[in-house]
Amino acid sequence: MKELRNVVVVGAGMMGNALAQVFASDPGLHLILKTRALKKDRYDPIISNLDIMIARGAATEAEKEAILERIHFVTDDAEAYTDADFIIECYPEVMEEKQNLFAHVENFCRDDCILATNTSVMSPTEISLKCRRRERVVGAHFWNPGHLIPLVEVVKSDFTSEEVMQATISLLARVGKKPIYCAKDVPGFVANRLQHALWREAFYMVENGIASPKTVDDACKYGPGLRWPVMGPMENSDLVGIELTYNIHKYILKHLADNHEPSPLLQEMLARGDNGFRTGKGWQEWTPEQMKASSDGLKEYLIDCAAKQKK
Ligand SMILES: NC(=O)c1ccc[n+]([C@@H]2O[C@H](COP(=O)([O-])OP(=O)(O)OC[C@H]3O[C@@H](n4cnc5c(N)ncnc54)[C@H](O)[C@@H]3O)[C@@H](O)[C@H]2O)c1
Repeated sequence: MKELRNVVVVGAGMMGNALAQVFASDPGLHLILKTRALKKDRYDPIISNLDIMIARGAATEAEKEAILERIHFVTDDAEAYTDADFIIECYPEVMEEKQNLFAHVENFCRDDCILATNTSVMSPTEISLKCRRRERVVGAHFWNPGHLIPLVEVVKSDFTSEEVMQATISLLARVGKKPIYCAKDVPGFVANRLQHALWREAFYMVENGIASPKTVDDACKYGPGLRWPVMGPMENSDLVGIELTYNIHKYILKHLADNHEPSPLLQEMLARGDNGFRTGKGWQEWTPEQMKASSDGLKEYLIDCAAKQKK
């Protein structure tokens, strides 16, 4: 497959803006952000993301100017799609809208153009069903905030060609992302399956009085969570030895949560109208200041990680 140069991000919402920033950071790419209308303040979300990064040393003023210059907002379908090599949709999470978008885009783009979907949970196989060329559709699941989290899950649908997988992985690596190869189109892809296996156990322990919500969070933050940025479970298992891993699993697995329905605690909280940050109460009560400190703290941590990588 030829080198991918012309990239189109469709949908200028939260993820679309972040992805446009990522692709526009590469001077060798031509980036179009396909939007419905050319609003006066269209650059504001990207400027705001970049300004916070500059303040913490993760980007420079010169990089900001260059990135903004390389983002071309386009409303016209033909102008956006005709020369595209790689189109990634950041549309609302509605199956029919995503299917119809790709079927529509095929009326304009070349036969060798890749169509990627940033869906968090939907099946790329199903998203490709209305396409003429299903082998060109691939999952490319960025994590929020898309301009700061390196992981992108590249998901092979039942039809995606190997060539399309490899070209997508190369493009994402080129713009500084850490693409991973998800060999099967399964719910949760890879990272959300891992994340929700952990959440299931976390909720189970609270439900059964084994640990408070804060204890669960502290156990992650001050224990295994410190290992995860440098060592995943597979490498860790090798480190401690396969024999030890086997013996531990033989003893412990039967005691772990294996429920197939959401925790009853979630249902009880929802019935009480407790919806986390949205209502100020979830597993704990939240003041507006605590909520701001929590979400700012995460963003600052991720920006500091990006700044470290830059050095
Ligand atoms: N928000 C997250 O944390 C997150 C993380 C990873 C992946 N995703 C996925 O990314 C996708 C987008 O999510 P988001 O959070 O950015 O949503 P969003 O609502 O912020 O953005 C969707 C954008 O699509 C635009 N849009 C709708 N119809 C359009 C049309 N006809 N032409 C052009 N633009 C149109 C909307 O105006 C909006 O700007 C979803 O599939 C979502 O599941 C979201």
